[in-house]
Amino acid sequence: MKITDLQVDHKTDPLGYDFPRLRFQWLIEEARSPVVSVRLKIWEHDSASKEQETPEDSSLVFDSQETAPGSFDGMEVSLTLAPRCRYDWQVQVTLANGSRGESETAWFETGKQEEPWEAPWLSLPQEASSARVFREAEIPRTVEKARLYICGYGVYEVFVDGRKAGNEYLQPGYDTYDLKQEYQTLDLTDLLPPGTHRLMILLGNGWYRGRLVFEGGFEDLYGDCLTVSAELDLVYADGTCERILTDQSWQAQTSEIGENNIYDGEEQDYHLAGKPLDLTVSASGKQPAARSSMPILATQQKGPAEILHTPAGETVLDFGEMITGWVTFYCREEKDIRIRLLYGELLQDGNFYRENLRTAKAQFTYVSEGEERWIRPHFTYFGFRYVKLEGITDVRPEDFRAVRLMSACGEGGSLLTGNEMVNRLIANSKASQDCNFLSIPTDCPQRDERLGWTGDIAVFADAACLNRDCAGFLSNFVEMMGREETAFDGVVPLFVPTPKGEEVSRAADIMLKHLAEGTAGWSDAVVDIPWALWENYRDEGMLRQQYPAMKTWIDFVHRQTMEGEIPHLWLDGYQLGDWLALDENGQSRADCCGFTDTGFLATARYYHSLDLCRRSAAALDMTHPDLAFYEEEMEAVRTAFTAAYLNEDGTVKIPETQTAYAVLLAWHLGDAKTAVDRLCALVHEQDDHLRTGFLGTPLLCPALSEGGAHETACRVFLQETYPGWLNEVKLGAVTIWERWDSLQEDGHVSGTGMNSMNHYAYGSIVSWMYRYLCGFQSDFTTERSVRIKPMPCPELGWMKGSVRTSWGIYTCEWKITGEEEALYRITVPEGSTAQVTLPQDESLRLSGGVHELTGRIHG
Ligand code: BGC
Repeated sequence: MKITDLQVDHKTDPLGYDFPRLRFQWLIEEARSPVVSVRLKIWEHDSASKEQETPEDSSLVFDSQETAPGSFDGMEVSLTLAPRCRYDWQVQVTLANGSRGESETAWFETGKQEEPWEAPWLSLPQEASSARVFREAEIPRTVEKARLYICGYGVYEVFVDGRKAGNEYLQPGYDTYDLKQEYQTLDLTDLLPPGTHRLMILLGNGWYRGRLVFEGGFEDLYGDCLTVSAELDLVYADGTCERILTDQSWQAQTSEIGENNIYDGEEQDYHLAGKPLDLTVSASGKQPAARSSMPILATQQKGPAEILHTPAGETVLDFGEMITGWVTFYCREEKDIRIRLLYGELLQDGNFYRENLRTAKAQFTYVSEGEERWIRPHFTYFGFRYVKLEGITDVRPEDFRAVRLMSACGEGGSLLTGNEMVNRLIANSKASQDCNFLSIPTDCPQRDERLGWTGDIAVFADAACLNRDCAGFLSNFVEMMGREETAFDGVVPLFVPTPKGEEVSRAADIMLKHLAEGTAGWSDAVVDIPWALWENYRDEGMLRQQYPAMKTWIDFVHRQTMEGEIPHLWLDGYQLGDWLALDENGQSRADCCGFTDTGFLATARYYHSLDLCRRSAAALDMTHPDLAFYEEEMEAVRTAFTAAYLNEDGTVKIPETQTAYAVLLAWHLGDAKTAVDRLCALVHEQDDHLRTGFLGTPLLCPALSEGGAHETACRVFLQETYPGWLNEVKLGAVTIWERWDSLQEDGHVSGTGMNSMNHYAYGSIVSWMYRYLCGFQSDFTTERSVRIKPMPCPELGWMKGSVRTSWGIYTCEWKITGEEEALYRITVPEGSTAQVTLPQDESLRLSGGVHELTGRIHG
């Protein structure tokens, strides 16, 4: 047996968090018999006697004793933790066959908790777009533990004697800076042996004060100067302590970094460095809170797949896949040579192309110091596959490494089929997720936008949770949404965080004015994400924390519908409809909202959110006081909706669209039989192609499969002609595109106004593949059990998938073996069960182990 994936509050070895809830979790793999007991022990790391590991051990602060395993492999513990303290923990497992296993020791460390923040704030002059803030520190004796607690705005990196501290980039990431001030904790122990050291904090603009938000962008959205406050806590081996604060003893000077921001990139020129800057020291104001953000890490490095010499005479690196991050290169150029790296997603007619980045300059400029060394940016990132080089005379592949930056997310499930194009699509969905999970879930990583558009992640959340373990990442985003919701009187805005600077509110742009009027499908992210987290990770405590934000949003829509023209219909708000749907039948591209009536969509969506809240409340407590409201309100909405939008025969009164019927089916409104017949007819009219946008697309295949038209779902899914998922793959997509026709058949970009090659929304199709093709249903039956109801798509030949639950990994494979026959192989973790239903068969309960079953293909 292996005990892996040790996490505290969904984080691996977390440093400097608050842990309002202490949840320990692990994964037991390869157990040969069921788990009969688990034992969790926690030691205070800093206490001296920890080696002994005996019950008398004075450092032992928690021992669960042998406990029967719960409904998941984990334990929630109530324990009072000390501030700035590291704890070690370990889990021991006993199986029914008597064998025992022990995990490695993992750790977690608290932040400052209630301790007051003592450090003053150091602010730089407004004109400084980057600065080094530094001082010397004398370390007289051996340091046992050195921690830096730091708030730095816009973005910062810390160096000790020129060496980078920690493994995080772009700290503090993008947060709701106006609503929460978060400090991060860095471990500097190994960087501070006895002697004199130079502590240096490098600051840049980042999201805080660099150009941000589309339509040309605004500067100084959260503040107009760089600022930092930090406390260095030293514990010496002899037990004495010392604290170094950012105060008058620090100095500042310009750095080598000139212009820098998220959209445009960064300029590095050694001529700029070393000029003294004034520092304003002000007393500490608000009390910063411990971080809840996940670290942004460099998760992959790779060299170019190819060096291209284009027809236009350019030298372009092709990394073969889409990457979010930057390229580090080894500079061999002579002094004062100017080097430029331009980033793009595409080639057009074989040449470097990036018109679709709109106003984002997305470039890195470097003026050589004449010294051979590796160079990289600090305060920007790019979404790219291609990098055009300028000013490098001798281009050697080994001198370039693309570095992928991504917020920490663990492994998730897996999918593989007998169809190479489908496999590419699966990989593309995960690639777009990886490229956009940087600090917040962004719409895209490349152009002058990169915002936390709520609608995009709302439709992708389930797929995201299946692709990877993103509990820590997405729950942090839910917290941000909750803060914005409070700031906007109960409305979740279109994107989160939402800068509220004066400049933004003054801006004439219509979109900005409507940021927080409430948008169906976008604001509902505050319901969809907690629900996806619940369905995938079954952490009741997390759902309990998130539930109030879900309810607040429902209350807002409820008020709107009651104040509106017809009670219980949602006809107000700022609606984006079925964003980017194709059912305008070639009408103007300018209107992106599709053809599905927005009142119909918004009301149906409200009904669905009510339903998810009802199910959430029931999951928390079968007698939850809110249940009655949800039930009554759902009934009232259904009645009003039926009267307004449905004919007697179950067809819709509004112009028919695929999305309209998919909505009726997926959200259980109206007559299912009529809806599926009409949906199939509309699909067949398009020669089995979809016409759906952001809201309709994730519902389309599930609605067809669920409604008894699985074969039609498979046909739409497998279309290689426009529009369809595999059409993108056929045209060479390595990520998911924003539009079905982002590239045209001739490989040309269809338009540059709003056209990214890296938008995950349509990648939500993998959720259907997991939940229908492989059959991993989202509604778990009892404890430690899942429902598996595979619905093969014979054209794929075979398929295998796996999901990670908090009590083990399940796999389901099928292989078409005859005209009407398939072989199914299902793996169930020991000590768990699966409720399996094969096509046309009675459901059966399988226990731990590998099961091979012969069954039919069609239901
Ligand atoms: C973004 C989308 C977003 C939409 C909503 C676009 O600019 O890229 O993905 O959901 O706007 O208006």
